[in-house]
Amino acid sequence: MGRVFVAGSINMDVVATAERHPRVGETVAGEAVLYFPGGKGANQAVASAKQGVPTTLIGRLGTDAFGQELRTFLAAQGVDLAFVKDTAGTHSGTAIITIANADNTIVVVPGANAQVDANDVAAPVLAKGDVAVSQFEIPLPTISAFFRRARAAGATTVLNPAPAKQVDKDLLDLVDILILNETELGVLTGAELSDSDTPARFAEAARSLARGKIVCVTLGRRGVLALVENQPLLVAGREVKAVDTTGAGDCFVGALASQLANGRPLRDALTYANIAASICVQRMGAAPSMPTAQEVGAVLSASRPGEGRDP
Ligand code: RIB
Repeated sequence: MGRVFVAGSINMDVVATAERHPRVGETVAGEAVLYFPGGKGANQAVASAKQGVPTTLIGRLGTDAFGQELRTFLAAQGVDLAFVKDTAGTHSGTAIITIANADNTIVVVPGANAQVDANDVAAPVLAKGDVAVSQFEIPLPTISAFFRRARAAGATTVLNPAPAKQVDKDLLDLVDILILNETELGVLTGAELSDSDTPARFAEAARSLARGKIVCVTLGRRGVLALVENQPLLVAGREVKAVDTTGAGDCFVGALASQLANGRPLRDALTYANIAASICVQRMGAAPSMPTAQEVGAVLSASRPGEGRDP
């Protein structure tokens, strides 16, 4: 069995729930303030570790109360924190999140996450069969350094380019599997996309990013469209009642990485990750919502996974 290494952000999510989102310049009365461990890197690491796969997180925390709380939580989820450094002189990453009608808006203040550097990602020793995962809440040159090391070790590299920003070809060329949603696909390709577009339209946009890699476009309740050697594979989603979609994409990425590290074929891994994300959205919070392997297994054995077909 391979291991999963996640280089990424660790945040405390400060969540306000309200009946609706305020418009710009408007104040609305909220309902509750909640504190959840989050950050795309931490969420993905928790999602992987909870599938029973050895998972190491590489990142940074501030030396503040949030940092201590996040470290305690992540350790309790079974995430290896040997390469998570406490960093003096800065605060732990913090996300200010508003949730209304299951939809969120997020402002992330990186704090210590902005200081994750090439030396941090040089410390762990990766091997063939491992899976190296990253996202865009740590500096991009750090991700490049991480993926170069992973590639040299024979590990599979997985990039989730979220939150979306322009990325140069050199970094994309270090990626084996790119996982992104339709918004991120639009930013990276310059294509005008909307969530009601057909899978064929997403496949067409994803083709320009493929260049030898697998591209997976997550489509929320519609499932996921993967482009493998330029051939589209659609894995259907699961209809559930969402209460909070925060971290659902991270759940998908972490669960998929865990299954690839276990040697599962891509199609099975996509089905598994879809189910994991569908469980995640039925709970409040990001990292605490990640399902266990038993929970995913129960749905998997009770359901008939969607059939792959051309869009
Ligand atoms: O993807 C969800 C995550 O984005 C939240 O947990 C928040 O911390 C932001 O990083």
